[in-house]
Amino acid sequence: MVFVSVFKRNLKELFFRMRAHQVLVPLNASLLKLHYLIRQSQWIGKQKRDAGLNDFYTRGYVFSKMFDLFKFVSENEFKGRAIDYFEFGVFRGNSIKWWLEDNKQAHSYFYGFDTFKGLPEDFGEFKKGDLSADDRLPEVSDLRCRFYKGLFQQTLPGFLKSYSGKNPKVLHIDCDLYSSTLFVLCSMAPFLHKGDVLIFDEFVTPTQEFKAFDDFASAYYLKYELLGAVNNYQQTALKIG
Ligand SMILES: C[S@@+](CC[C@H](N)C(=O)[O-])C[C@H]1O[C@@H](n2cnc3c(N)ncnc32)[C@H](O)[C@@H]1O
Repeated sequence: MVFVSVFKRNLKELFFRMRAHQVLVPLNASLLKLHYLIRQSQWIGKQKRDAGLNDFYTRGYVFSKMFDLFKFVSENEFKGRAIDYFEFGVFRGNSIKWWLEDNKQAHSYFYGFDTFKGLPEDFGEFKKGDLSADDRLPEVSDLRCRFYKGLFQQTLPGFLKSYSGKNPKVLHIDCDLYSSTLFVLCSMAPFLHKGDVLIFDEFVTPTQEFKAFDDFASAYYLKYELLGAVNNYQQTALKIG
């Protein structure tokens, strides 16, 4: 045992001394993707296939299934109840408008966060600045809804200083990026309670939303259960346990 750990330490020191990263750096992104692809496949393998709504495995992507998942969550978890709905990644307001239409409780509140100027980093084929709403907020006249313009990293801390909502929460995380997702989850962690729901829109990108959730769940010893998933886990809803 001692021999093995000394060997490992020497090998690691040799790695640093030889600056082995110079040769191995080109493999870094691929290895990271492979690692999180394996983790995600393990994660999917552990989920109950008979969760209320789960289309795994079906061929093809159907955009409207996202709304089926919203409906499923809304009807089964919050029917007739007021909610605090947070959307991280609003763009032109397609999904937040769905929730505003669906939940008419007078004491529900809807908070939408976005730069409205597009992604702050490259994301796959999308470049920094893509998915811009041209700096314009969605046209919403419902007084229960507020938008916060800017990076989450700038707007969310100030918002949370005065936030004391008591309604059950829905966090709709549709910001694509690892950095944005991890920041949101860690910031919202002190406000999450049993029964609150997390919905991810790009959960199947192993090194982005999934990686952020996986890292967050490990660091916070998060207890949760799968509520539903559509488009082979692209959109995934989890309930905090
Ligand atoms: C896929 S779009 C959201 C789609 C939207 N939910 C809809 O219904 O169409 C992703 C959005 O996340 C936003 N975003 C990503 N990271 C962000 C960050 N750190 N701060 C603010 N906005 C961010 C981008 O500006 C972009 O509008």
